[in-house]
Amino acid sequence: MGRAVSTLVENISLLVTHDPERPERHGAAIVIEAGRIAWVGDSADAPDADTRIDAGGRCAIPGFVDSHSHLVFAGDRAAEFEARMAGRRYEAGGIRSTVAATRDASDAQLLAGARRRLAEMRAQGTTTVEIKSGYGLSVAQEVRLLAIARSLTPEATFLGAHVLPAEYAGRRDDYVDLVAGPMLDACARNARWIDVFIDYGAFSVDEARRILLAGIARGLGARVHAGQLGPSAGIRLAVELGAASVDHCTFLADGDIEALAGSGAASGAPAPHGRVPALPGGVLAGPGSASAVPGWATAGAVAASAGQGAAPAVPGWAANGTGEAPVLPGWTGTVATLLPGVEFSTRSPYPDARRLLDAGVHVALATDCNPGSSYTTSIPFCIALAVREMGMTPAEALRAATLGGAEALRRADVGHLMVGAIADVVLLDAPSYVHLAYRPGVPLVHRVLASSAQQWSPSGPGAYASP
Ligand code: NIG
Ligand code: FE
Repeated sequence: MGRAVSTLVENISLLVTHDPERPERHGAAIVIEAGRIAWVGDSADAPDADTRIDAGGRCAIPGFVDSHSHLVFAGDRAAEFEARMAGRRYEAGGIRSTVAATRDASDAQLLAGARRRLAEMRAQGTTTVEIKSGYGLSVAQEVRLLAIARSLTPEATFLGAHVLPAEYAGRRDDYVDLVAGPMLDACARNARWIDVFIDYGAFSVDEARRILLAGIARGLGARVHAGQLGPSAGIRLAVELGAASVDHCTFLADGDIEALAGSGAASGAPAPHGRVPALPGGVLAGPGSASAVPGWATAGAVAASAGQGAAPAVPGWAANGTGEAPVLPGWTGTVATLLPGVEFSTRSPYPDARRLLDAGVHVALATDCNPGSSYTTSIPFCIALAVREMGMTPAEALRAATLGGAEALRRADVGHLMVGAIADVVLLDAPSYVHLAYRPGVPLVHRVLASSAQQWSPSGPGAYASP
């Protein structure tokens, strides 16, 4: 195998790596080799490389990890939003109108819509995204939504328990049986995760327990929607089951914060989390394939954006250019994922991020992009809300939207820029990431160097075929 092409990114005013020893560096440079961060240091000490990118005094941050989205749907609910802004309350039942529109849409329409939203995310600095099903709610429909999600990201989540579909009115138990049985059986091969919406108008804690345990038994990792519309025991259920994340946490019940804060220490053995299922044809990654970390780096993207030719092979950790094993974060507790786009769009109180952080809870920020409660694809918007409305510092908000998201997906290879990380680097048209909140609504993403999953699909971009 020939030596991988290396790219030096120099003249970075402020580099955020999240290295616990030194999370931020001024006057920095990085070297990218084979889609991984191969070197980090002062610009003055930078080694030679095959190509150079002048960051022009910009700030460089890890690509955002948006760990909660519902990108595969049809239609919109602007009228519902308008009514809410005139005083109507958000209700989980609105999901059913998107289910109707989604069922009526063709595969091609659904794929095109999801791709469009993914492109919006990318333009705003997101390089890893989780995508849920949940607007199909029948076996055939959930299977096709997951196949579409899976063609766009390895972080695909089965959300058959989003809301009770209209045709099951009065037959809740039958629907729970379906989700935990035949629907799960049909969907598991395209999912890494299983999720349940626990809330008023959605599913109960007992129903969720049954469905999540069935998913865990099938090898999926658990994640939960809870505490959006009111306090519930769903947050403690998530911790009890070793879920990677519990999302919303707008309302917290007594004991929730303690349970979340203690979640990492509680289990001696790593909590269950889904493995990335084998792809049709057994190929794990695109160009280069096999990385030693459960991941799927496609090194072509950086090489291409640096004006290089063919993608080098991805060598994995041991051959990252330094010969050293990278120091990687590895959180196995339950992350509290906050979704401030929801509070914005439903005119609800924001979650108490300060209390969570001060108690030592690991926090992530994500968009929850969906047509009902949060139709934004913008992590920078969520960061601005978190800083302005939730008492997070700009550094805490950035960390939550990068490393926090990676923890919520149990991914050690993204969300940071230490040596060995997948080289997902965002250059901001700003000297510091503080500008993400200081200049809200301004498109500050100058360039996205993305080596990761978003370049990935089962057999190249646009590989989705009707199942
Ligand atoms: O995360 N909470 C459940 N699901 C979405 C809302 C979906 C919808 O309203 O269509 C959410 O907020
Ligand atoms: Fe959601």
